[in-house]
Amino acid sequence: MSSFNISISKGDEEKARKLARSSEDQHWYDVMRTLLMYEDFSMETLKRRQEHMNRLSERQSSALPPEFFTKLEKIGQGMKANLEFLTEVAAFYNHCTNGANGPPPKNDGVRIRSSEQHRNKAVLHSVGREWSKTGEAERNEAFLPMIEELKRRLPVNKNNAYIQRVLVPGCGVARLPVEVSAEGYAVEGNEYSAFMLMASNYVMNCIEKANSCRICPWVDSVCNVINTEDPYTPVSIPDRTANDIVAASPWIDCDADERAKVGYPRLGMAAGDFVELYGEGNLDAKGSFDAILTCFFIDTAPVVVDYVDTIWHLLKPGGVWINLGPLLYHWTTDTDNNGDDRYDHSIELSWEELKYVVEGKGFQLQSQQGQKGSGSKDADLADDQDKVQFLNCSYSRPHNQLMWTQYNALFFTAIKPTE
Ligand SMILES: C[S@@+](CC[C@H](N)C(=O)[O-])C[C@H]1O[C@@H](n2cnc3c(N)ncnc32)[C@H](O)[C@@H]1O
Repeated sequence: MSSFNISISKGDEEKARKLARSSEDQHWYDVMRTLLMYEDFSMETLKRRQEHMNRLSERQSSALPPEFFTKLEKIGQGMKANLEFLTEVAAFYNHCTNGANGPPPKNDGVRIRSSEQHRNKAVLHSVGREWSKTGEAERNEAFLPMIEELKRRLPVNKNNAYIQRVLVPGCGVARLPVEVSAEGYAVEGNEYSAFMLMASNYVMNCIEKANSCRICPWVDSVCNVINTEDPYTPVSIPDRTANDIVAASPWIDCDADERAKVGYPRLGMAAGDFVELYGEGNLDAKGSFDAILTCFFIDTAPVVVDYVDTIWHLLKPGGVWINLGPLLYHWTTDTDNNGDDRYDHSIELSWEELKYVVEGKGFQLQSQQGQKGSGSKDADLADDQDKVQFLNCSYSRPHNQLMWTQYNALFFTAIKPTE
């Protein structure tokens, strides 16, 4: 066996410290740094817009309302609020994992590309969707029908409270798992984005008071604005704390004897890729969930067949899969140009093809009594009858704008048969 002796000169100590960081740790470290880089990337945007303003002729300037010239300052204040939030997110994670006070230095390591700014924006958008009062209507469009369907399929009573086990893969910043847990289920949220995980960790475990934090999630949405102040009008988060939601549950004090026998918490999070974490290679996970809720998630797979197989593997016989969302397929085009090889594997199935896969696996699509689709059912779905609904849903949309995306979201319930 050969060994390598690496001699380290004094000046190289810093380099060695970085080398010692595992690539996993380095990833999380760089995510914290990216959150902090929100400042630099936002300043670049502001600077560019200020330059455009400076290039206005006197004639053009005199035609504009006076507020136009104070707008950038207010947008800057909105960005500052976002930066404070993202810095807190990074600092809290750094504290939880490294015991550090404050976030890491943002310039310690490889340069963070400005194209990474879209991840910071995605965090702000998701927190706005999931944890603000403004996002409530949007949450209600998607989360409520899923929760109603879950309650109808697997009713909770004082003997089974927090026993029935539900998985919510791709849970973003974790509002849906929290809401489902408050309904008396033992819930595991799963998420693979370090950005989302850090943000949900901060919102759920650090913020103690409702509405105590302010962000401007849509400060960058400068087109299609109706009221000038809309993009920089802050939203308060969280509209309710995770603790308050869970504590208000009618089942909170229901500690069924059976619970002592189960080895899972009432509410937990698992970090990692859905298929890697729970796929067929994980024998312990086989048949361990009563229900799986996929909300705006299945189209995040390069090959959705892998998700269907994993869901089948995880569900108990008789288990319930409730899905709601579009088929937008995230790995279709390499917009980041970051060379991720999932872009080289993406297949884009129609609902008809996906249904073939789902039923071919053995799932039985079942009607959702009491649920009424609000979307349009243009496709010829004669043989589906009411086994699939289409619901009008939006996703992280800025409010009060001249344009937004409305999904005709696919909503179905599939049962893994007992035989
Ligand atoms: C469109 S978002 C939906 C978030 C949330 N379910 C909602 O409805 O607000 C999809 C989420 O799935 C996560 N995700 C994508 N692929 C994943 C994977 N393979 N394993 C776990 N999470 C994944 C993304 O990071 C993202 O947070």
